[in-house]
Formats: sequence, C-alpha cells, structure tokens
Amino acid sequence: MSLSIALTKGRLEKQTVERLAAAGYGIEALKDKGRQLVFQDQVKDIRYFLVKANDCITYVNHGVADIGVVGKDTLLENMNETYELLDLKMGCCKFIVAGLKDKNPLMKFGHIKIGTKYPNVCREYFQKRGMDVEIIKIDGSVELAPILGLCDGIVDIMETGSTLRENGLVVFDTVCDLSARLIVNKASFKLKQAEISQLLEDLKKVMEDESC
Ligand code: PRP
Repeated sequence: MSLSIALTKGRLEKQTVERLAAAGYGIEALKDKGRQLVFQDQVKDIRYFLVKANDCITYVNHGVADIGVVGKDTLLENMNETYELLDLKMGCCKFIVAGLKDKNPLMKFGHIKIGTKYPNVCREYFQKRGMDVEIIKIDGSVELAPILGLCDGIVDIMETGSTLRENGLVVFDTVCDLSARLIVNKASFKLKQAEISQLLEDLKKVMEDESC
C-alpha cells in the first residue's frame, strides 16, 4: 500500500530531506523544489507534501497523511490524536523562559505577563508553579516583547541562543528539550503496518549515531 507523508516546511525541512535521502528514499526533487508542494518518491510508493507545522498534525489527525514529521513543540502545544513513533534526533532545541537580565519573571510576586507563540505550553508551565500569569500571544520575533515592555518575560524556543544573546535577553529556566518526531495516524498504523515498520527501520538505521 502507498504511504503519504506530511513534512514540515522551514527549519526542519532540510534535515528531514537529508535523513530520508540517507535512508535510501527517492526524495531528490525536494532538494530543489521551487514552489512545488506535492512530490512523488522516485524509489518507493510514497507521496510527500510540504505543510506548516500545525497543519502537519491536522493532516495526520484526519488521515490525509499517514505519517508526519513535526517538532515536539507543535505536538505539545496542539491537541493531537496521533501516535508519536520516533524521536528523529534532529531539530534539537529547547523551550525556555527568558527575559531581560536582572528582571527574572520567576522571582516576581503576584501577576506577571508572559509573551509567547505557545500559550498552552506556557500556561501549563506557570500553572504547575502556582503563578498568576497573563499570557500574551505573539506570532513572531517574541524576543522583542520584553524589550518593548509588553511583558515581563517570554516562553520560546531556543536553538543556538543567538537571538536571545543578540537582543540582550537571558535564560531563566528550561521548560523541556525538543526535537522532531515522526507521528502516525492511528488507522494507518493498523492498516499499513508493514510499510510503516519498514520506514521506521530504514530511518533508525541511518540515525544510530545521532543525538540531541
Ligand atoms: C525561533 C524562536 C526564536 C529563534 C531561536 O524563531 O522563536 O526567535 O528561532 O533560535 P536561536 O536560538 O538559534 O537564535 P524563528 O526563527 O522560527 O522565527 P519567528 O520568531 O519569526 O517565529
């Protein structure tokens, strides 16, 4: 049976394509793809499509894609009914709490304001600490928000740390480690067991030395 795989566009895309190519998949067309969004594997009976992270989960939830490659950040933030089958040990980064030096929101008493692209992750983190938090949803360049005085701190992703450093922000806590995951639609997992097991085996073989 054929498989369809939803790949997350952007930061994870290059590493995902490299990993699949190393595992022997015919994914060459994705390396120089222009604006094309759907691709047929040149070796296997697989169709790939490129989507935004949140949409990757939606396509797999609905079974339009059997499989998805998506960041753990997106999985933690959004409801999903998929099986998470493999930590791909790539796209390694962290959720952190950060802010302006000498202004640690975790040391502040009473009401605090936190800017984030991840309101659910943020809410859970502060609720666990019993803190009174107001979450301000921001869509990008979250680091700007405490600098401009919109909030006391941020919950965001840190990969290299350069965005924080170059904007004079410091890390006050790590919420959790993150990496890309392989997710599978529950019905596909039953119906396409052999194909999915083969993909897992092929990927595991080429990631023996990988770590986050
Ligand atoms: C992410 C994140 C940080 C940055 C961290 O944003 O929100 O801003 O990357 O990476 P670094 O630690 O390597 O500097 P992204 O680049 O995805 O863009 P956005 O802020 O517009 O969402």
